Formats: sequence, structure tokens, C-alpha cells
Amino acid sequence: MARKKIALIGGGQIGGTLAHLMAQRHLGDIVLFDIVEDLPHGKMLDLMEASPLQGFDLSLTGSNQVEEIKGADLVVVTAGLARRPGMSRDDLVTVNAKVISAVSEHIRTYAPDAFVILLTNPLDAMVSLCRKVTGFPRNRIMGMAGVLDSARFAAFIAQELNVSVQDVNALVLGGHGDEMVPLVRFANVNGIPVQFLLERKYGPEKAQGVMDALVSRTRHAGGEIVGLMKTSAFVSPASAAFTMAESILLDRKRILPVCALLEGEYGVNGYFLGVPCVIGAGGVEQIIELELTPEERVMFNESVSQVKSLVDAMTL
Ligand code: NAI
Ligand code: 2OP
Repeated sequence: MARKKIALIGGGQIGGTLAHLMAQRHLGDIVLFDIVEDLPHGKMLDLMEASPLQGFDLSLTGSNQVEEIKGADLVVVTAGLARRPGMSRDDLVTVNAKVISAVSEHIRTYAPDAFVILLTNPLDAMVSLCRKVTGFPRNRIMGMAGVLDSARFAAFIAQELNVSVQDVNALVLGGHGDEMVPLVRFANVNGIPVQFLLERKYGPEKAQGVMDALVSRTRHAGGEIVGLMKTSAFVSPASAAFTMAESILLDRKRILPVCALLEGEYGVNGYFLGVPCVIGAGGVEQIIELELTPEERVMFNESVSQVKSLVDAMTL
């Protein structure tokens, strides 16, 4: 059986890191496309020269010719500008909308049957634009944000409780902005609620403050990294995109928080929002609708409003 073909559109920090992760786990043959002359060729040559040491037998191609993505089974889009200090994700909308519009036309032309995972910010608006241009069915197009935001929440919880990250489950819904919705109620360590463990450690009053700080740090985690590195995170976003890609290509049917097109679920129609989905060979195979508490519903609705205003204001 032939290997799957993966096209990575955007060969910057995330695209290059993602190519490495995918090669290490043998996910498929990889084409890295970027508009910067020679950059994708250099990155893939570097990877190819590492292959005898890391043991991957894959076709690894770097290209400035978009036709090379032809027939891809999976396309991951990271093309566009990343945040710099002082910029919000939303500040990227005008310039990245032009990039995503052009890239989406390429996907429609050269990879009409592909699954698409999009990362470019502002995520919820860019994935909506990509869907509009490609016209792909909603199971084949999704955005990556919730997997990253949930991983950040889990990492901060593990650090706070001094327990293994492997045992922490955390879920963040909503848009990929500061109004995202970390669901405290669902956070647990091997089934034990995080709230219980924090109360055991600190007592009920202080525990609430500690949880609030974990939630706030999660919401602002992207900005925290931009402040330190002067550009945005790339290892954790690439790892999150890898998790989604692997679940599709290996039909793992993982339940992941994915930016999916809602058609009535969660009371939202026609907008992409982060919600738990079953991700497998059929892409977004199911959207899981959770019963939110009134407080969670208020937070979710605030996030929906933020996403709606950004999408509705988007002009090319
Ligand atoms: P980067 O600047 O390192 O790479 C972006 C690449 O896109 C550059 O190499 C650039 O030449 C290329 N590019 C620009 N226009 C293109 C076009 N028309 N076709 C093909 N390639 C094109 O940026 P990085 O760090 O890789 O981030 C990529 C995007 O991902 C940014 O918009 C960033 O904000 C976003 N991001 C999203 C996250 C999420 O959770 N969804 C997390 C972190 C970053
Ligand atoms: C992040 O969350 C900036 O979206 C980017 O790291």
C-alpha cells in the first residue's frame, strides 16, 4: 500500500518542526511548500540528511511550486504572519486573510480530496475563510487550537500539583483568543478532579485563587511565549497539529478539542469554534455536544461573540 501524501503549506517555524515530527513517526511522504526561495528545499534537505540517523524511509520534498501538493491526502496550513510582541492574534487578520485566500484556492485546485488542518491566526476566522474558498465538507476541514490550549492547561496543572503530565486531562473549548473557555469542571488527574486536589493542597479558599490563576495563564499562554521569544510558539503548536494529523491518518478516533464548523451544535450555526470531536479517517467524524453549566455557557457565548465579530468584519 502506498504511503500517504502530506502537504505542509508554510515552511516556517511550525511547518519545519511539524515535518520533523511527522517524519520521525513515519506518518507519510511530505511536501513542504513555501514562497520563500530555497527555504523549503533547505529544510527538507536537512531532514533527509538526518534520516539515516533517525531511521525514516520517506520521500521528503521542499518546493516553491505549489503544484507539488497535487493529490495530497492531508494538507496542513501554517502559511502567514506570526505574532510579534504587542500584537494580538486578531491583528494578523488583514494580511493573513490574503494569504489564506490564495492558499485555499491552491488546495481546492490541487488537493480537492484532502483533509485540511489549518493553524494560521486568527485561527477561527482563517479556517472559516478556507472553508468558504474551498467549499470542502465540514468533516474535511478543521482548525488547530484547542489541542494546544488544552495541552498548556494540562502542563500548568501538572506543574502546580507536581504530578505527571501523562495523568492530567484538561479541556479548553471556544475560540483561540483570550476569551477561550478552559473547563475547570472536566480537569482531572487520572479521574480525580483537579479542584479536589487543589483543595486538598491549599484548602477551599486558596484553591479557588490558584485555579483562577491556572485558567488565566492558559488564556494568555500564547502571549506569554511571544513576550519571551519575540515570536510565537512553534514546538507545542506543531505537536498539537501532529496529534490531529496522526489521529486522521492512523484512524485513531481520538476525542480532541478541534475548531470545527458548527451547524446548530452548542446553539451556533455557521461558525467554526473549538469543541470536542472524534477525529479519525473520516476527519471530524462526530461533534460531541456537552451540557454546559450556566457559568460555562456565559463564557462560551463570550468566546462565540468574539469569533463572530472577527469573522463578520473580515475583508480581503
Ligand atoms: P513563520 O513566520 O515562521 O512561518 C510562516 C511561513 O509562511 C513563512 O515561512 C512564510 O514564508 C510562509 N508563507 C507566507 N505566505 C505564504 C503563502 N502564500 N504560501 C506559502 N507559504 C507562505 O510562522 P510560524 O511560527 O510557523 O506560524 C505560522 C502561523 O501559525 C502564524 O499565523 C501563527 O500566528 C500561527 N500560530 C497558530 C497557532 C494555533 O494554535 N492555531 C499557534 C502558534 C502559531
Ligand atoms: C499561540 O497560541 C500565538 O496562537 C499562537 O501560541
